[in-house]
Amino acid sequence: MKLFIDSGNLKEIEALVPLGIIDGITTNPSLLAKEGGDYRGLLKRICQIVKGPTSAEVVATDADGMVREGRELAAIDEHIVVKVPFTKAGVIACKTLAEEGNKVNVTLIFSPTQALIAAKVGATYVSPFVGRLDDIATSGMNLIAEIVEIFGNYEFTTEVLVASVRHSIHIVEAARMGADICTCPAAVIEGMFKHPLTDIGLERFLKDWEKAGLR
Ligand code: E4P
Repeated sequence: MKLFIDSGNLKEIEALVPLGIIDGITTNPSLLAKEGGDYRGLLKRICQIVKGPTSAEVVATDADGMVREGRELAAIDEHIVVKVPFTKAGVIACKTLAEEGNKVNVTLIFSPTQALIAAKVGATYVSPFVGRLDDIATSGMNLIAEIVEIFGNYEFTTEVLVASVRHSIHIVEAARMGADICTCPAAVIEGMFKHPLTDIGLERFLKDWEKAGLR
């Protein structure tokens, strides 16, 4: 399963990329707004660091505007994936942008029918938001299972990009279900490394070695 960082923060991205486990980045308008300043320059820098798919979202709400913005975003770097929200306008824009050869991520997916529609119009990725569904007492991971099953039944090449990930259990369940990608905040990726028994084990190995005085 591929692992993306869900962030527009250069420090977080620069800290995680050298680990060799990061396959791409997702941003959204809220994440880029948090960073402020020149968002195009920031996206370019992120692409240079990650050298992998980097989602950048349009903010227009009509199809023509989304296509225009999508083309502008795609011109920033070859790694840019144009992100469009799942609306009727977003579906039309996805089809146009995909037919022009752009990679498109259809975001704000909350049902299997939305994912099916996005796949039919050539989305490279669909982004179902699991955490936000959990927040309203609906299982986010059930949605992932349904989408993985549906895409597997046909010849869709659209990848399931699990988004709104809040903790390691989301990642484990997504991997067990065969989802293609999880995009996670930096803190969630950090959490994947942690286990107290690893820390205790290493401390004991080093103490025993020191006690024995071996050279
Ligand atoms: C995905 O592409 C989105 O940026 C993101 O996962 C949203 O997550 P949130 O629900 O934590 O804001």
